[in-house]
Amino acid sequence: MADNIHPIFEQLVQRDERESRLQQRSKVLWLTGLSGSGKSTIAKALERRLFQDGFFPQVLDGDNIRSGINNNLGFSAEDRSENIRRIAEVAKLYLESGIICINSFISPTREMRDQARLIIGAHDFLEIYINAPLEVCESRDVKGLYAKARRGEIKGFTGIDAPYEAPDQPALEIRTDELSLLESVDRILDYLNPIIAHN
Ligand code: ADX
Repeated sequence: MADNIHPIFEQLVQRDERESRLQQRSKVLWLTGLSGSGKSTIAKALERRLFQDGFFPQVLDGDNIRSGINNNLGFSAEDRSENIRRIAEVAKLYLESGIICINSFISPTREMRDQARLIIGAHDFLEIYINAPLEVCESRDVKGLYAKARRGEIKGFTGIDAPYEAPDQPALEIRTDELSLLESVDRILDYLNPIIAHN
C-alpha cells in the first residue's frame, strides 16, 4: 500500500512562508502533568493571551480530542500511547501550518513524551511540566475523578493506580500550587516570547 502513496510536499506552501504570513515562529508546547494540575486552565489562558498579543495559537486538549478523533481509545497504557501518538501527528500538522500548538495531555510516561518529541522534532517540541503535588490535585478534584478512583470506581487512574513519570529536563516547570494562573501564564510567556518572535 505504502508504495502507492506519493506525498507532494514540494508544491505545498512552505512552513516558513506560513510563519511569515502569521508573523510568528510555530512551535508545539507540550504541557504534561497530573489530572487537576492545571494544564487545561493554563492552556486556555495562554491561548487567549497569545491571541490578544497578535499570535495565532491553537489548543489541543484531552477532553476534546478524546471525544472526537480519539473516541475509540481508553486509558490502558497502549491506548494512552496511541492517544499521544495521534495527538503528536495532529500537532505536527499544526506546526507545519505555522500555528503555535498548545497541547494539554497527561502524557504520563517519558516513553510517550519521547515518542511525541520524535514525531514533532526535538527543536519544535517544548516540554512544560505543570506540577502540583498529588495531594493538591486530589484536593481540587475538579471533575470528581480522584474520589471515584479512590472508591475503586475508576481503575488505572493516573497518580492513584497508574504511573505518572515527571519529565527529567522540561524546558519549564510551573508549580501551580505556588503560582497564580496569571503568574503561571506570565512565566510561560517570558520563556516563549523570544522563541516565537518572527524577527
Ligand atoms: S493521557 O494519559 O492519555 O495523556 P488525557 O490527557 O488524554 O490522558 O486524558 C486525561 C483526562 O481523562 C483526565 O483529565 C480525566 O478527565 C480523564 N480520565 C478518565 N479516566 C482516566 C484515567 N484512568 N486516568 C487519567 N485520566 C482519566
